[in-house]
Amino acid sequence: MKEKPTFYISTPIYYPSDKLHIGHAYCTVAADAIARYKRQVGYDVYFLTGSDEHGQKIERVALQNGETPKQYVDRIVDGFHALWKLLDISNDDFVRTTDDYHVKSVQKIFRKLYDQGDIYKSTYTGHYCTPCESFWLERQLVDGNCPDCGRPTEMVEEESYFFKMSKYADRLIAHIKEHPEFIQPPSRTNEMLQNFLLPGLEDLCVSRTSFKWGIPVDFDDKHVVYVWLDALSNYITKLGFYSDDDSLYRKYWPADVHLVGKEIVRFHSIIWPIMLMALGEPLPKQVFGHGWLVLDGGKMSKSKGNVVDPVKLCERYGVDAIRYFLLREVPFGADGVFNNEALINRINSDLANDLGNLLSRTVAMIGKYFDGEVPSPTTPVEAEDEPVLSLAKGLTAAVQGHMDALKLPEALMEIWKLIGACNKYIDVTAPWILAREKENHPRLGTVLYNLAESLRFVAVSLKPFLTTTPAKMFEQLGVNDEALCSIESLADFGGLKPGTKVSKGEALFPRIDVEKELKELEEQTLLAQAAAAAPAASEEVKLPETLPEIEYDDFAKLDLRLAKVTACELVKRSKKLLKLTLKVGDEERTVVSGIRDFYEPDQLVGKTVVLVANLKPITLCGIESRGMILCASDEGDTKLTALTTMEPFEDGLKVR
Ligand code: ME8
Repeated sequence: MKEKPTFYISTPIYYPSDKLHIGHAYCTVAADAIARYKRQVGYDVYFLTGSDEHGQKIERVALQNGETPKQYVDRIVDGFHALWKLLDISNDDFVRTTDDYHVKSVQKIFRKLYDQGDIYKSTYTGHYCTPCESFWLERQLVDGNCPDCGRPTEMVEEESYFFKMSKYADRLIAHIKEHPEFIQPPSRTNEMLQNFLLPGLEDLCVSRTSFKWGIPVDFDDKHVVYVWLDALSNYITKLGFYSDDDSLYRKYWPADVHLVGKEIVRFHSIIWPIMLMALGEPLPKQVFGHGWLVLDGGKMSKSKGNVVDPVKLCERYGVDAIRYFLLREVPFGADGVFNNEALINRINSDLANDLGNLLSRTVAMIGKYFDGEVPSPTTPVEAEDEPVLSLAKGLTAAVQGHMDALKLPEALMEIWKLIGACNKYIDVTAPWILAREKENHPRLGTVLYNLAESLRFVAVSLKPFLTTTPAKMFEQLGVNDEALCSIESLADFGGLKPGTKVSKGEALFPRIDVEKELKELEEQTLLAQAAAAAPAASEEVKLPETLPEIEYDDFAKLDLRLAKVTACELVKRSKKLLKLTLKVGDEERTVVSGIRDFYEPDQLVGKTVVLVANLKPITLCGIESRGMILCASDEGDTKLTALTTMEPFEDGLKVR
């Protein structure tokens, strides 16, 4: 038997986060539709998703929750599995970067690159955005902040390993130019070339020493592997790369598509291909950068009066309605707006009216006029039949054209063109009028046959996109022969057998009363917000979650001292930092503090502050900072005050 061609598609591996919203579901649902489509048309598909579990960000969040990083990620990853199951995601594998095979393979990759001289040891001084786990050059910052997320970066100085990206830059530029399909959509190719590759690539810092939650470099375990090097490798480690059994790797690599959000195209189309070039392995065939789902007012968040929790949305509207909205609403590659009103309108117009009514009317008319048996199409084709027949016959080719270009909404639009033509067909042929005259019954039979057969075409074509609706349609149409549910059966119009018993079922998608629904959603959101804001009167007022308990001995390790600020100045090259000169008893110290947004230098001079005196020194913007002054601030650092004493007090005294 001829072997099926293979097709490998991946989603990004997601950071464990409690706040998975509908935006995260978007990419996975899109990848799922593509995977299902490719299986339908005869490919041997490998569809991979997973979780990206290392890094400073995760270490910090786990600590805040009073959990170990592993406890934290295990708990969150269980939630991923549940969500993907709920959304009917048909992934063939799930990779976790804390899994043993992955850790071992990444260590081997790192060692190989080191052994061949592509990774070398040096010192990194520069900006790091912890939420994005990204290194940035001074010139890349926007107003001193991370150009991706807009949050402040941290200055870090660490002994690090570096990856010689620059060595491969020309080869990558040539590859991108020779393979215009490599980065899609095309606008992203320009962005990568103009913003990153053509200005010149710097070598990349690929290890960290200031935290532990990562894959240890096995020949220098003070270092953990940079989280993006670790994460990107997932696409091959799960296939057994550098393991005893690499048969999956040999079968499926190179990947056909890495589907990723637009903000991480950079990592996938620059760092990842260069890693593969250095390893001497083939590059993925395509990196496709999709856009974001945004709320009307901007970024997604639960506080904006829109339900964005995918679990709640599925419970309320059904999985297929949510899948349909995600796949249909957003031009693939561009940003799309999510709001509950748009979702409800789509459900009502496309699913309840266009599709649902078409099926229920067709089945009802076959019930009424032909005792529930699909009639024979015995009359010659008339002009009125043409649009439906030609759209149905051309449907698979039209869908294929769009799916090959990953134009998912356009593929759905082709299916809806046929649905629209069928609805119009009912209006122009007016079966209820044909039914009045006995001699018109053969023509009535043809019309209803064409409608039922078209609905079978629709159901088969919808299988990659909606996971429960096609089966419900087949049931109502009486189609229980598997062969008639296959894409091959759409080669000819006429597969549905006359005499097939149809059966009326429940409405595929009940209509939603828009006003009532929106009002209810608003009330629920207000209630949820009120509940979050105010504890019930009888409830004890709780402190925000605190860190886990420590022993007194742990506290006693801190050497806290009163210190007098004798001088304070701005730090050149930084918009965030102040340089403070402190008198601590007989000693003078320099401390660099990121409080520029809150204080002018003069305001601090003469104040008594609290110093963590035994903190390991670090160098920030070329200045050695010996210790840290204590400040109180809110979560987002929007307000801040430095801690001082009630009255001027003797510097050097211990705080305990
Ligand atoms: O970036 N609309 O993980 P992540 C559409 N671990 N897509 C969205 C979105 C939205 N509103 N919000 C997030 C990472 N996404 C890395 C990937 S791959 C080797 C490592 C998408 O959990 C986002 O664009 O922060 C990205 O593609 C994906 O969710 C994962 O984001």
